[in-house]
Amino acid sequence: MVVPEGPAGAANLRYEGTEIELPLERPTLGRPAMDVSALGGHHLAVYDPGYANTAAYQSAITFVDGEAGHLYYRGYPVEQLASSSFLEVAYLLIYGDLPTSQQAEEFVARVRDPKLVPHAAIERLFDWFPQSMHPMAMLSMATEALTAYAEDDPGADPRARVEAAGIRLLSAMPVFTGYAMSVLRGLPKGRSNRSLDYSEDLLQLCFTIPGSDHLPDNATARALNTLLVLHADHELNCSTATLRMVASSGAGFYSGVSAAINALWGPLHGGANQAVIRMLKEIKDSGKPLSHFLERAKDKMDPFLLMGFGHRVYKSYDARAKVIRQVALDLVEKLAPEDPLLDIALQLEKVALEDEYFVLRRLYPNVDFYSGIIYRAIGFPDEMFTPLFVVGRSAGWVAHWLEMTTTSNKIGRPTQIYTGPKERSVPKNPATA
Ligand code: SDX
Repeated sequence: MVVPEGPAGAANLRYEGTEIELPLERPTLGRPAMDVSALGGHHLAVYDPGYANTAAYQSAITFVDGEAGHLYYRGYPVEQLASSSFLEVAYLLIYGDLPTSQQAEEFVARVRDPKLVPHAAIERLFDWFPQSMHPMAMLSMATEALTAYAEDDPGADPRARVEAAGIRLLSAMPVFTGYAMSVLRGLPKGRSNRSLDYSEDLLQLCFTIPGSDHLPDNATARALNTLLVLHADHELNCSTATLRMVASSGAGFYSGVSAAINALWGPLHGGANQAVIRMLKEIKDSGKPLSHFLERAKDKMDPFLLMGFGHRVYKSYDARAKVIRQVALDLVEKLAPEDPLLDIALQLEKVALEDEYFVLRRLYPNVDFYSGIIYRAIGFPDEMFTPLFVVGRSAGWVAHWLEMTTTSNKIGRPTQIYTGPKERSVPKNPATA
């Protein structure tokens, strides 16, 4: 990434004989951006479907170098953090630097404080959820339910209150996820074991039948920790942008996270990890060659997409997918060597990366292509894949909400290109109109 040098400067737009100067905002890394605020005065707007070229905020948390396929959390390449503990990385995203050992110890103690999660009330809430309910809906509702405890989040200033709410959220996510899994499986809900580390506790909440002494094995817990780290943040993706939009109106933190969870659920976004497994199962059961599915993915008349492929920002291999691919190869070999889906995924990746359609459009595997295979090898049902994405991404959502409390904030309100009817009057006798 070449960081453009030189003064801020400006871009000049010539419109109907008028020269409009648009000052340039220069980032630490990435594309300079034109400040287009002046366009309103010229009765002009910009049209940018999906905001692909719109910098809506200034942020210092994460940078994605899509051209080169790099991801940085507060400047650190994510592959250097992949084996750090998830809570250490959460601290980095939230506070801006890696914690000292004492800071890490204090932060872990705060997040792992059992008093933060009203277990009995949350358990009653999950008891109400039908087994047929998708766990993402459960997580969204349970997160919103934390609003009932917002007054307990101490802190005089907004930043301290959000920090307390964020720590409560991180504390609650393994419990929510474990309870959702229990509802899905029709099993009794466990209890958090705060003597375990975050990933181990998440696994035991999901898999340990209360009363049994089963504990997750270390390799699985380490693999899950790496997945949580790699999912922790990713700039202004659809769900994080949703969170910031909710924050911009002054609504509550838990409401913003609940909205972000629902945005992440979509199959084009975080729901892709579940859609990838569904696609691989369809390929396996169809008995058809991979070329059949590649042709479907290229056919604009066919809604079929190669799920887990392509990305709005990465135009090369997703930095996270490289790490997750290796975790998948190691863990599946150990836990589910007989599972055919990994081999199908590896073959699909090979043929797609050699296919002109995908090469020309720079469509590579993204974070979701291999993650579902790992969750499946660990034993999670497909519906639990996106909730596990939520657990990791909660760290980034806390960091983004905190950043918004400390930077100037305008309520998000995009304009539109109106294509409806011009002004007209209601006919005197509508019936005969
Ligand atoms: C995540 O933004 C983030 O950071 C998100 C995320 C995060 O950490 O928060 O990284 C997590 O959401 C990863 C993405 C998971 N989604 C999927 O795997 C679903 C499949 N991918 C596609 O839906 C798509 O690639 C998107 C949504 C990810 C990106 O869509 P864009 O940026 O709007 O790109 P596009 O749809 O304009 O595609 C460009 C071209 C089009 O063809 P042409 O019109 O040029 O002929 O590529 C084609 C698309 O049809 N294309 C695909 C494809 N993805 C894009 N064709 C077949 N299969 C695909 N997967």
